[in-house]
Formats: sequence, C-alpha cells, structure tokens
Amino acid sequence: MCGIVAYIGRRPARPILLEGLKRLEYRGYDSAGLAVFNGSIAIAKSAGRVSVLEQKVNGLGGFDGTIGIAHTRWATHGEPNDTNAHPHTDDVSKGHGIALIHNGIIENYGVLKQYLEEKGHTFNSDTDTEVLTHLIGELYDGDLEAAVQGALREVTGAYAIAVICNEQPDVLVVARKGSPLMVGVGKDEYIVASDSSAIVAHTTQAFTLDDYTVAKLTRDSFRTTTVDNVPLTPQIRELEFDLDQIELGRFSHYMEKEIHEQPDSLRRCLKGRTDTREGQVVLGGIAEYARDLVKARRIIFVGQGTALHASMVGEYLMEDLAKIPTEVEFASEFRYRNPILEDGTVVIAVSQSGETADTLAAITEAKQRGALTLGVVNVVGSTIARDTDAGVYLRVGPEIGVASTKAFIGQVMVTTLLATFIGRRRFLSADYVSQLLTSLEALPDHVEKALQLSEEIKDATSRYVERENWLFLGRGHNYPVALEGALKLKEISYIHAEGMPAAEMKHGPIALIDDGMPVVFVATKNSQYEKVISNIEEVRSRGGHVIAVATEGDNAIRKVAEEVFYVPDVPEPLQPMLTVVPLQMLAYHAAVLRGKDVDKPRNLAKSVTVE
Ligand code: G6P
Repeated sequence: MCGIVAYIGRRPARPILLEGLKRLEYRGYDSAGLAVFNGSIAIAKSAGRVSVLEQKVNGLGGFDGTIGIAHTRWATHGEPNDTNAHPHTDDVSKGHGIALIHNGIIENYGVLKQYLEEKGHTFNSDTDTEVLTHLIGELYDGDLEAAVQGALREVTGAYAIAVICNEQPDVLVVARKGSPLMVGVGKDEYIVASDSSAIVAHTTQAFTLDDYTVAKLTRDSFRTTTVDNVPLTPQIRELEFDLDQIELGRFSHYMEKEIHEQPDSLRRCLKGRTDTREGQVVLGGIAEYARDLVKARRIIFVGQGTALHASMVGEYLMEDLAKIPTEVEFASEFRYRNPILEDGTVVIAVSQSGETADTLAAITEAKQRGALTLGVVNVVGSTIARDTDAGVYLRVGPEIGVASTKAFIGQVMVTTLLATFIGRRRFLSADYVSQLLTSLEALPDHVEKALQLSEEIKDATSRYVERENWLFLGRGHNYPVALEGALKLKEISYIHAEGMPAAEMKHGPIALIDDGMPVVFVATKNSQYEKVISNIEEVRSRGGHVIAVATEGDNAIRKVAEEVFYVPDVPEPLQPMLTVVPLQMLAYHAAVLRGKDVDKPRNLAKSVTVE
C-alpha cells in the first residue's frame, strides 16, 4: 500500500532510489515518482510501473544529487495519473521548495485544505497528501524538522513520510504513524524505506520508527523525537535478511518461486519447535503466557484475506486439539462492532506483513478491552509483532508475490503448533502429540511431492481457463482451503470464483452450474469423504466438470471427476497445508495462461495499510 524510499549520503541517490522502488513495488504499482536535490529539487513522476519512471528519469538531467525521496503508489484519493503521483510539493509561487512522499491517509485533509486555501494556497492534485506538503510549507520557518513536527500535530490518520526542502538541502526528515517505516544506518548515509527489502543491499543495521516519531537525518548524524520534540533513543538492530531470498532465481514469477519454496518454508517454520520424543511443542515466543493460554476460555482469530482463511483452519484446529471455544472474525468487523471480550479471552492476530491496518486496529481494540493478544506474523519487528503481548513468527522468509502462498501454509503450521502446544497442556497425551509431530515433520516432503504436479495441473487448467465462473468446494478442515483456492484464482487471473462448504452449494449456488462449469473439490480421504462424493455427483448430474484434489490411491474418484490431482495421505487436521498446494498452482497457471501479471495483479497491494 504505497512504498516509500529515501536516501541521504555521499553516493548518487537516483540508482539507490530506483532500485529501492523496484523492491517495494509489490506495495503498490499504479504510479511512481522521485525527487532529487541537485542545486534545486528535480522531480519526475509517471503513471504506471516503476520501469516507466525509470525510463523517463534516466533520460533527464538534474537528478545527480546525493539526497532524494521516491514513491510507488496504490491510489486512495485521486486517480492514478502523473499529477496525483508523489512526490508532492508545497505552493509553487510562495513555497519553500518542499517535496514530500507519503504512505497512508490524512483523514482530516478536507478541513486542512479549506484552512490552507483561505491562506492563499493553490492545490494541484486530488490527493490527501498534498495538504500535508502545504501545511509543512505554511509552518516552515527555516527549520524543516520543526515544521514537520508542527504539521503532524495537526493531522489525523496514518502516515509514513519523507520530506526534503530546497532551503535545507542537507536534511532529510522522515516520520511515521500507523504506516511502516524503517531507517537503515550506513557509513555516512541513511536509507529509509517502508520495509527492509529496499535497505539490505546497503546496510544490515537499522531501526524501526515507532508511531508519532520524527527522525531528522543528515549525512553523518540523526536524531529522533516525538512530534512534540521530546528526544527518543531508537534501538538499532541487525537485519536478518538474505538478498537471495528476494531474487527471482530460476523462476518466472515470485508467486511461482514462493509456491515452490513451501517445503523449505515449512521446515524453517518447524525447526526447533517440535520435541517428538517428549511429545512437546516448543514455542519460546509464548512460553511466558503458557498458563494464560491453558486457562483461556475463548479464542478469537482476526485477520484479512488469506490470513483469515488460515485463521479459519486455526479455528478447527484449536477446537479439535486444544478444546477451547474458538471463533474467527474479519479484523475489520471485529474492530467496529463493539465485541464482548470476557475474562479469559485471547485474541490472535494472523498477518503475513504485520502491518494490515484492519488487523492492527483489531488488536488495539482487543488490548483496550483487556484481552491477551498474540501475533502470528511473518515480518519480524512489524507493527503487529511489536504491538501484541507475545507471538510466534512464521519464519517462511520474505513473501513478495501479492497473492499470498507460503505465508498461508506458514500461518496454518503455526496455528497447528499453537493448538498442539495448548492441547498438550490440557487434554492431549504425549503419545498422541508425538505421532502428530511426526506427521508434521513429514509434511514438507509431502508438499514437495505435490509440487511435482505442476505440469499436470497446467495441462488440466488449460482445458478450463476460458471459463469465467468457477466454484471451489470443500468440507471440514478443507472448507477454508476451498475459500483460499477461489481467492487465489480471482485475485490473479480475474476469473470469478466462489468458495464455500460443499454442502452449502445446494442452498443456492447449485443454480449456477451449467454445462461444463468447472467445479473444484477438495475430496481427500477423511471423515467427510463420502459426503463430498455425494456433492460431486450433484454437480456432475447438472453438467458441471469436476476437478478434484484427492488422496493417492483413491482410484474410485476417477469415475466421477474429469481431472484428479493426487496428494499423499496425511492426517485430517494437517490436510489443508497439502491440499492448498494444487489450488495455488491451478491459480498460477490460469493467470499465466491468460497473460496476466501474476505478481502485480490489478488494483491489489500486498500490504494494506489503510482501512
Ligand atoms: C492483502 C493481500 C492479501 C493478504 C491480506 C492480509 O489483501 O493482497 O494477500 O492476505 O492483505 O495481509 P496480511 O499481511 O495481514 O496477511
């Protein structure tokens, strides 16, 4: 949801900024822009991808300075065009040459704009951001840091910003509330970015800005303060990030790479967390709260998108293994519907990025109401990871593809571990847990086997890829997998797909089934297998074409399904981490066959930091 990068140092800023933007492009890609000070501030902006901006700016002079800011946008206010692209500047006629980039939303921009217009400011764009630029310009009195602090005291909403000024060419001011921002500390240079992927090529020393923090950076020093100018001391830490993790390597797309990384992702997620001999799960991040978890009377998972689907699997697992009443809620709904949180309620936020605004807000609400909060998060040091009482990281490595894949199975794996951790302390025997953990440890190899289906799935997908309506059906633990399969297909190939419990089909959606409609069933061997087969028959008798994910050795299913993707047999609670894999590949191949931009689907952004 908008990526920002800024540089101050002794090297040319332009290549560092453009490279950073490419790393951050997954956050938004409808327009991009950059500003570099080289005697005066030069600005280039363009609608479209970073590559369009790159071509434009490389053909222009005036961008050779050593301080600059850059932005890749996901539009909220104002259509994606050159004018609305960032950076924005203060009033051209009476301004101080202030240029600013922003990720977030200024909620009170309407009143501020009116105030500034009355003061004679003229606005160029339709964005909320421009108001902030003019406000800083209005307050500027020779001290950029003070003007930024003053302006931020007036705004409500969310922001991560970076600001430069013609009149103070050796100062970069950055600030944050609600949207992520990190400062990389190099030798005589600072690289500021929405996340570490734009920083690690230059330095591994960095600090994360807390909410309401302003940092003033010069080439050889920095200071951080609150917006009220109270000095702060940030904690500089070592970034654990390997650049190879964010390179495409032999793959055509990040989504493809991340699907294929899943066996290793699971291995990393499991490492050191299973004690098969003792029948114990080891989760250091929540050990301190083990007693509260054992005594929990209710668990509520909150998340959005794929994280919500993983949470739904978590609900089944928690009730199955830990025997604690569990619910799942869209974080966005939980936050605004005045939830009742009695004593003993634990709220678990599931999020790949750890920055999703709705999920973050839900956690804030839950904490205010006295609940214990846990984070099931991928990005280390992200806001949700820091704002929850405790948590368990996914450890699946950076996920760049906008369509989430390896994070899903990481989230399901962590919730499985969590449920087992609690269940073992409540009802589960050491023997049962030992067996479960042995099956968990074998899972990465099974996923590896499922990945060998790729060509077969591509071939089958090509037979149905022109169809515009698909259904995805599953029961029990595999019902959330059906939802996830449908989400994957629609978000990257723009095919209309609905996921639902297989039994629900006959309560309405069955009316959609016509001759040749593709209906994808998760039909693995488990307690509801026979019922799923009956649902398959219902589809077939109405002309639908059945694509089934089935258990190896189930030859009978070939009689009722046009296409069958076989996966190894694993215990029912663990099936989602395996059955989702063919559906991810199906969506991937459908998007490629339809010529879509797999890693940057239209209108989407990976990290949604607005409500
Ligand atoms: C966006 C992404 C989804 C993701 C959801 C939640 O919509 O496009 O892929 O599942 O946000 O993101 P989170 O980072 O909280 O898991």
